[in-house]
Amino acid sequence: MKERSTGNTVLVVEGGGRGAALVDKYAQSNHVGKVIAVPGNDLMKLNTDKPVQIYPQLKTTSVKEIVYLCKQKDVDLVDVAEDRAVEAGLVDALIRKGISVVGPTRGAGRIEWDKAFARKLGFHLQLPQPGFDIYTRDELNFALTRMDLESNKPRFIKAAFLAGGKGAKAAKDRGEAKEKIIEVTKMKAGKVFLIEDWLEGDAGSQGEEFSLFVISDGEHYRVLGNAQDYKRENNFDEGENTGSMGCSSPTLLATPGLMKESKEIIGKVLAELKERGMPYEGVLYFGGMAINKIKGSDNFGYIYEQKPYVIEFNARWGDPEAQAILPGLKGDLFELGKAVSSGDISKVKIGHDKRVRVAVTGASKGYPREEEYRWAKGRQIFGLEEIKKMDGVKLYSGAIKEINGKYYAWGGRLFYIVAEGKDIVEARRMAYRAMSKISVEGNNLHYRKDIGWRDVERLNK
Ligand code: AMP
Ligand code: GLY
Repeated sequence: MKERSTGNTVLVVEGGGRGAALVDKYAQSNHVGKVIAVPGNDLMKLNTDKPVQIYPQLKTTSVKEIVYLCKQKDVDLVDVAEDRAVEAGLVDALIRKGISVVGPTRGAGRIEWDKAFARKLGFHLQLPQPGFDIYTRDELNFALTRMDLESNKPRFIKAAFLAGGKGAKAAKDRGEAKEKIIEVTKMKAGKVFLIEDWLEGDAGSQGEEFSLFVISDGEHYRVLGNAQDYKRENNFDEGENTGSMGCSSPTLLATPGLMKESKEIIGKVLAELKERGMPYEGVLYFGGMAINKIKGSDNFGYIYEQKPYVIEFNARWGDPEAQAILPGLKGDLFELGKAVSSGDISKVKIGHDKRVRVAVTGASKGYPREEEYRWAKGRQIFGLEEIKKMDGVKLYSGAIKEINGKYYAWGGRLFYIVAEGKDIVEARRMAYRAMSKISVEGNNLHYRKDIGWRDVERLNK
């Protein structure tokens, strides 16, 4: 029997904090009566009084089951917010059944799941991006030989396909490049791999990363927001790369000039995908690097200007950028989503509340190394309820398990604290005040204490 609730039903395909932020935002729409999340997590209902149903037994790639669920539950809109689901063709399957969906088809989403495709597209469009070569696994010896013969410079070695954030490897010199090439070709995602130049500014200056998010209906796009991610495990940007330890949004790095040029890049990509018969319908994540280029010189030395370069495109929201941007988005996400799938998004009213937000990831001690953080699994998390009482602070859940009203660590990235303020300093103060209320049994909580430091420094300059 089909169920019919009052109001529309939205299904969010995601299990972590990004999904929790989407559930919260969809539930705020007056059009929405109920939200379903696949697989979801135990605390996704935290920020709303509307019914939230989760399906932890399903994966985001369970295409047949999700399509069936949509029919069974009379789902009005599906938001596919996860890369593996895009790669698996979930959006295509939903469209075939006439179901409204936000998210790119497998063809348009290739811009994320095939890095070789993305770089070739960028080359065709003459986008600012690092120099690159593409090889197949069979060409391993050729690639290694070229490393011996070509200049001894820093490079990035990348598996072309999805590798859960572990596909890009930095190599400071020729020797490291050869090691990383061998490593990457042993990965499933490394059947095809890329050797990229290490992007840096003129005169050896360092680039700085930012991300810009837009939503497109295939033809028009609207800006959702920008952010700066902190990917390293520890304070001072030390330790391993992680899925992300936090972010700030908007970032002061995003000057009008940098944003204007970034939007031009995005515009070209969307137009090209449409031209190729693969219109991009959903959230597009532009991962850029601001590079200092020499514009000229005066008596004091070089004059620089900042230019955006393409690091990558992702076919989805960032995590935790979604958690930091969505709460400040003014407008109705259901209306926007519906317009993506069947209308013209240029007519939907959206805006931003102009508050600054900081998202801090609360992780199990040992994250991102599974062999270390698995010891935290099952430890109780204390203090989560305290956050609900705080103004200007939200908690979005990730790998948390609820058993008899108590909460337990259940993976690497457990939850996200998102705090707002008039500027980065205020937002950060609130975020860490909230974080100090939470602990994981046995001293098993790890979080960075310096999220947003780049913007604090910029503000003080
Ligand atoms: P990705 O897995 O493609 O997101 O890359 C992971 C990180 O590696 C990025 O966030 C950048 O910090 C860095 N990175 C990737 N490609 C390059 C490049 N060509 N030059 C400099 N840094 C890069
Ligand atoms: N925060 C980086 C990502 O979602 O890929």
